[in-house]
Formats: sequence, C-alpha cells, structure tokens
Amino acid sequence: MEWVGDSCGLLGAIGTELDARQPFAGKRIGTGIHLEPKTVALLVTLQRGGAEVIATGNLGTTQAEAVSHLQANGVAVVGGPTTDPDEHDASLREVLAAEPDLLLDNGGDLFVRYLEAPYEHLLGGTEETTSGRMRLESRRREIRRPLLVINDSPIKQFAENKHAVGQSVLESFLRITNRSTNGLRVTVFGYGACGKGVAQNFGRACADVAVVDVDPVARLEACLDGFAVPDRAEALAGAEVVVTVTGAQRVLTAEDLPLLRDDVILANGGHFPTEIAVEEIMAHASVRDIRDAADGIETVVLDDDRRVHVLTHGFMVNLNGPRPLGNSIGSMDLGFALQARCLEAVALGQVGAADCVVPVPPRIDREVAEAYLALRAR
Ligand SMILES: NC(=O)c1ccc[n+]([C@@H]2O[C@H](COP(=O)([O-])OP(=O)(O)OC[C@H]3O[C@@H](n4cnc5c(N)ncnc54)[C@H](O)[C@@H]3O)[C@@H](O)[C@H]2O)c1
Repeated sequence: MEWVGDSCGLLGAIGTELDARQPFAGKRIGTGIHLEPKTVALLVTLQRGGAEVIATGNLGTTQAEAVSHLQANGVAVVGGPTTDPDEHDASLREVLAAEPDLLLDNGGDLFVRYLEAPYEHLLGGTEETTSGRMRLESRRREIRRPLLVINDSPIKQFAENKHAVGQSVLESFLRITNRSTNGLRVTVFGYGACGKGVAQNFGRACADVAVVDVDPVARLEACLDGFAVPDRAEALAGAEVVVTVTGAQRVLTAEDLPLLRDDVILANGGHFPTEIAVEEIMAHASVRDIRDAADGIETVVLDDDRRVHVLTHGFMVNLNGPRPLGNSIGSMDLGFALQARCLEAVALGQVGAADCVVPVPPRIDREVAEAYLALRAR
C-alpha cells in the first residue's frame, strides 16, 4: 500500500494541493470501484480534499488488505471481497442509502441504482469505464447531472486501456499459467483500445496473434497492424489461448465448445465476468469433470477428453488469481488524476447538466498531461 502510494506521483501532488484548497469540504463521495492499492491511493487523495468517502468494491475484485487500510484511514467501506451478485447489489445500495453528493462509478453500478431511487442533492459524478458508459448513455435525460466518463479521455485510452491492460493481461497469463508465449497461437476477441494492447503485448512476446472483432473497421485496423483476422470459427479452432476483451456479454459460450482444441486456455480481460459464459460452459452436458488445476486455473474436462482451462473463473484476469496486481501504477496514477480533477470540477460546479455522460473536459486532459510530463522531467 505504501509502495503504491509513494509511486503515485501525480496523486501525491494533487493531494498536497487539495490539502490546502479543500474542494470537497462538507461533501460525501460514494464509490463503487475495485478496492485495491491503487484505488486506495485515489480515495485517500479525495479525503485529503475534504471528502467523506463511503466505498464499496466491484464484483470479484475487492482485496481484503485494501479494505482494512481504508477503514484504518477513516473511509467507510461497505461489504468485503465477494463474487455473489446479490451481496454486491446490497453493498451498492447501502452506499446509495448514504445519499452521497458525488458518485464515483465503475461499470454504471451506482448510477443505474441511483435512478431507481433518485435524490435531488446529487451533484453528479464520474464513470470510469466503457462498460459503464454503454449502460448510462441512454439514460442521460433521467440523470440530468454532470457525469464525466474517464474512459473517454484520450489519456485513459492510450495510457491505461492500450498500454497497461495489454501489459497486465500478459503479465497475469504468465504469472497464473507459467507457460511460454513463444509461438503460442493466441486469439484476442475485441480490438478496441484494450484489445489492441493485449494483441500487441502477446505479439511482442513472440506469440502468433489472431484478432476477432464484430466491427469490420476494427478488423481492418488489426489487419493493417499486422495481425491475422480469420473468421470466428477458424480463430477459435486454431487458438491455444483465447482472450476476450470486448465489454460485451456472452462472447464465448458453451456453443463454442465443439470448436475448441484440447488444452486451450480461456481468459477474460473485459469488465464483466460474463464475456465468457463460464457457468454455462461448466454446466454443459458434454462436461465430464471440473478440477482446480492450480491457483486461478479451473480445468473443464469434456467427454471426448479435451481439456479447457478457464483462468480466474472468467473474472478480469489482471485483477484476480494469485497476487493480482492490476494495471501498472503509472497508468492508474494518470487515470486517477483525471478522476480527482473531474470530481473536483463537478463539486465546484465547473461542469453542468449538459455535461452528462461526456468525455473528460479537454482542459483537464491537458492539465494532467502537463503535470505528468513535469514529474517525469524532474
Ligand atoms: N481489465 C482491465 O483492467 C480493464 C481496463 C479498462 C477497460 N477494461 C474493459 O475492457 C473491455 C474493453 O474495453 P475497450 O476500451 O477496449 O472497449 P472498446 O469499446 O474500445 O472496444 C471493444 C471492441 O470489442 C468489439 N466487440 C464487441 N462485441 C464483440 C464480440 N462479441 N466479439 C468480438 N468483438 C466484439 C467492438 O467492436 C470493439 O471493437 C470493457 O469491458 C472495459 O470496461 C478492462
């Protein structure tokens, strides 16, 4: 926790500034974001700006040490590590019952529940992800408040989604499986910012990478970037590793089982644990046995003896399994600097109701970029 906090140079500098200015004085911030050491650094920074923080995590990614650290620092944490959707739902509702003035959301979980029982004094907030933006953009008229989407900052796109997710998904594959990537046939589903990074990082690790995307423009880009773009069935049949990173649901289902080769490894880097329909696959009639092969690896044995290995039960592979580290500290420091600045802009009324489910204001992007470059130049 200390190592991560000390490595977040931007958040540290923002914290020092917020100590003096107190833009969140008298405000309660409710959060529903992964509780791990980097988010701890963000929540503590918001506290330094005068906020009272009430936090819960995301499904399947909460780390017990992060919860204890936050509690010891005066953050009210609701719930703990869980993969139970009902328990998680109850925690999100408890955060909203405290009627926070600002919401820091990740995946749209808080805002969709806020709309079930809205209260007037909510000033607005932020949403971290693509998945959340997709859930919330059709509900702008109901939200009627500033809601800035961190994911849609160019900085978040290239610093975290492209470079860091790619790196950490590769790092997690290596850490969990300890298998070699050289010559390995890897199929990546989704060629958005995250998929580009995953494909690029496996490619740089000498894997033989194919890309599947429902969008022909994305497939064209993958092709011009040097990746194979076979049709879906061919890409699955040839894969030794399949990584989903689309933001969509049920990208791989039990219907795909006949296509998979023996010893294939399935991993998900997308936000929701439903990109790979793990429960459906495990309950399929052709499954003879399921066993825990190693920490973070479940092996599904089919009745024709083929083995399908599922990493971290389909939960985001870079935030699960043994010693999950998530994305690099530097990338999260940038993304969370955007978070802190955006929440400040909402708290101070610098953005209005017209700024509902919109990207980070460009002036904040420029400010954060300047600050990071200045730190690097020291
Ligand atoms: N693991 C992490 O640390 C991390 C970090 C950031 C974002 N994410 C998540 O990763 C996911 C992808 O994010 P992104 O920013 O790359 O999104 P994006 O919208 O930029 O790209 C998604 C791509 O997937 C494609 N796609 C959609 N459905 C598909 C399907 N069924 N088959 C194949 N391709 C399909 C889309 O056409 C698009 O090109 C999201 O769920 C996001 O929340 C994870």
